[in-house]
Amino acid sequence: MSAAADALRDRLGARRPRVALVLGSGLGALVREVEDAHHIPYRDLPGFPVSAVSGHAGEVVSGWLAGVDVLILSGRIHYYEAGNAAAMRPALEALKAVGVEILCLTNAAGSVNPAIAPGEVMLIDDHIAFSGANPLIGEPTDARFVGMTSAYDPQLREAMLRGAIKAEEALHRGVYMWFSGPSFETPAEIRMARVLGADAVGMSTVPETILGRFLGLRVVGASVVTNFGAGMTGAELSHTETKDMAPIGGAKLARILAHALPEFAL
Ligand code: HPA
Repeated sequence: MSAAADALRDRLGARRPRVALVLGSGLGALVREVEDAHHIPYRDLPGFPVSAVSGHAGEVVSGWLAGVDVLILSGRIHYYEAGNAAAMRPALEALKAVGVEILCLTNAAGSVNPAIAPGEVMLIDDHIAFSGANPLIGEPTDARFVGMTSAYDPQLREAMLRGAIKAEEALHRGVYMWFSGPSFETPAEIRMARVLGADAVGMSTVPETILGRFLGLRVVGASVVTNFGAGMTGAELSHTETKDMAPIGGAKLARILAHALPEFAL
């Protein structure tokens, strides 16, 4: 077992969470809803990524959310930080090693679909890895040929949709397209994304989905829309806007998860 997994197991004591959530930019508020929370800074977990992106805390929070024993990764590292698409691999391997089975990925994203507005939430039905990178490049075993036909677990997606109905929150569905970032897209790239079948664009999540499937985790993902894609309105895009807008959709996503999570773990 890796040093990260040993350290995490140590800190978890008797807890055996089967569900882990990765929080996107500006979505840290979910942590405040965790009951009996234990905070474990990434720096105490060898191999966990220390991200310098503002809006990302850098800790694992263990505790109870909607009656479900969960681990929350508050803070992720992005491909654009050091050009390493596999930067989250040690952390995800540690989750797997301590018994996590379900990986719930969240992100802040730009909408390229006029019907999905800022402040709204989109369930990720599928993705397009447009950055050209892949976290499994260099993996020497045949396990690298991961099937991605049902990358986003159909049953977990159903649970999310039922959760949204119970929470009385709208939950869009769509395709998330991964751009490397860190610069935002151009208007031409946003038009291309739409033509190619995307509903939202962002700079994360896809590497973790690929790694999660590689590790045999069941993956579910949701995007909180913080803005329309470049050129869809007159406005320039900024990370400040992402951080300011994320909590609006983030609160909706939290209410959806409160109803969906208890159905995940069964
Ligand atoms: N593009 C890429 N990533 C993003 C965006 C966007 O418009 N908004 C939030 N994250």
